[in-house]
Order: sequence, then structure tokens, then C-alpha cells
Amino acid sequence: MKIRKMFSMVAAGVLSLSLLAACSNDSVEKSSSDAGGEKVESFSFRLAHNQPENHPVHISLIEFSKLASKKSENSIKIDVFPNGQLGQERDVIELVKSGTLDMAKVSASALEAFEKKYAIFSLPYIFQSEEHYLEVMNNSEAVKEIFQSTKDQGFIAIGWYHAGQRSIYTTDKKVESPDDMKGLKIRVQESPTSISMIEAMGGSPTPMAFGDVYTSLQQGVIDGAENNENALTSNKHGEVAKAYTYTEHQYVPDVLIISTKVWDKLSEKQQQALKDAAKESSESHKEIWKKSIEKATKEAEEMGVKFYKIDKQAFIDAVTPLHEEFKETSEDNARYFEDFQSYVK
Ligand code: GCU
Repeated sequence: MKIRKMFSMVAAGVLSLSLLAACSNDSVEKSSSDAGGEKVESFSFRLAHNQPENHPVHISLIEFSKLASKKSENSIKIDVFPNGQLGQERDVIELVKSGTLDMAKVSASALEAFEKKYAIFSLPYIFQSEEHYLEVMNNSEAVKEIFQSTKDQGFIAIGWYHAGQRSIYTTDKKVESPDDMKGLKIRVQESPTSISMIEAMGGSPTPMAFGDVYTSLQQGVIDGAENNENALTSNKHGEVAKAYTYTEHQYVPDVLIISTKVWDKLSEKQQQALKDAAKESSESHKEIWKKSIEKATKEAEEMGVKFYKIDKQAFIDAVTPLHEEFKETSEDNARYFEDFQSYVK
């Protein structure tokens, strides 16, 4: 490992630790009484994520924080830490799990390394359209079950945010079919399903944390990655990756997780306030997201990124066997798969 990289990792670690230490480890601040004379404890939470302040998800998390205060009659204060200040997604999930950090927003793909049930969200082409994806995310009992499934591990999910459709982009090679993927090192999230997906598409999957993608593209460690259009602009990948092909292989939601250590301390009313705040901010986020994609596409074009529309069928055919494998892995998977399919209109 290069000395500079090692130094920056150590520096980031020290910064995260000191930020965590600076914020009191005890999230309960004080008690007071509400209008009905009931004793109410006040909480101050830290919520970490890896996007910059100009990213639509950050904007919606700030909205979530405001709504949480309002709906809990100011008994819950949430400070949002963007830019991976408190660590990459894997790190912050660990921190939430142990209760060192209260909340985080991470990709559902990153959660697969902690709970296999999350694999379904990374299955390529499981969602047939944006409408299908939204129907499932808003209504499915399977999603509710998966969101609760990590309770014994020390965290649960209480909401989700639209994170668009993921497609493949490379530094320069136009990818039109799985044949063009041969020999290409494509960065994927640290999710076994995403790794299998790129393999099935004919490329060489390179799992790595999101924060390392820009430099890896720049240094030629990878030939490309896969993500939504905002990655080109908000995360600046478009400065080095110039060919974006609409493979539109995944809709992977962003998921809001909370440590059960703090969740269990909240009153039922406070828990409901957080759930409602997540739901309301997730609703308004959809429009923010849509506009952000239009803007990102335009900006990326100005940066010199070329967008290619293709016939996706060869990619769909290449990865369809993964659906069968997924269903055969467990009864739960088979049930979740059927549940997701039942929302196709
Ligand atoms: C999306 C997602 C992030 C995730 C990233 C990735 O941008 O919103 O949470 O880290 O994809 O590819 O790792």
C-alpha cells in the first residue's frame, strides 16, 4: 500500500475517532415533561453518510433531521455528518451495530455483507421499472421484514431513499454488450450479488469502498464503475470516466439505519416520530432526486461524458440465472422474490 494512502487512511481514522469522541457517547441528554405531564427524555443523535453536501440524499437527510425534531416536539436532535467523515459505509455500519454511532444512511448493497437477506436489492433487473421499484419499496411486507431482520445484530432500518438506477461507466471504452465487458475491471460495492452480477456480465468485478473509486479510476486501478448519474457530478467521477452506458441494471435503495441501543431507549411516540420523518422526507426526496438526475446528466455532458442508450436484452439474459440461484438459496429468498414480483403491474 502506498505510504500516502496509508497516511490518509490513518488520518481519516483518527479524525473519525476524535469526531466520535467529541460527540458524547451517551445519546440521552436530559429529561423534561410534555404537555400532558409525561416524562420525556431528550436525545441527540449523530447520523453519518458518505455523500457531499450538494448531493440530493444529504439534502433529504437534513429534511429528515428537521422533521424528526418537529415531530418529536424537539426531543430528538439529529446532527448529520456527510462526506464519509465518520468512515466508509462498512465502517459506519459496524459503528451503528456496536452502538458507538446512532444512525447512518448506507446503500442496501453494503448491508448485504452484514445480512444476506439484503441481497435481493442488488439482484440485477429484479425491478422491471421505476414504478415497480417504488411500489415494492412503499408497500412490500418483505421489505419491512428485511428492515427488521438485523435487530439481533444491533440495528434496524427505519426508512429508505431513492438512489436511482445504476449503470456501467468506463474511463473511455463504450460498452454496448457483454462482449465489450471482457477484461474490464469494474468497481462494485462490497456486495456478493453485485460481484456475481459483473462476473455474469463478462467483466472483472473489483469490490471497493465508494470513497476510493475516484482515485482508482484516475490511477487506472479500475477501468470503470457502475452507479447513478449523480456519481459523475457530485462525486466527480465524470472528470475521469467519460463513457456512460445505460445498462440500468439495478435500483438499489439507500437505507436509513439506527442502532437498537438508542432505538430501544425511545418512547413509542418518539419511534413513530422518527419513522414518520423518514417517510415524509423519503416522499419529498423523490422529486429532488428526479431533478438532480436531469441536472447531473446535463452537467456531466458539459464535462465531456458521453451517454449511450443500448438494447439491454443481452445484459438481462446474462444475469437472469442469478435470479434462479437467489431463489434456491433459501426459503426466505424465494418468498421475498415472489413478494417483489407480485407488485409488477
Ligand atoms: C450510491 C449510494 C451510496 C453508495 C454508492 C456506492 O451512490 O447512494 O450510498 O456508497 O452508491 O456505489 O458505493
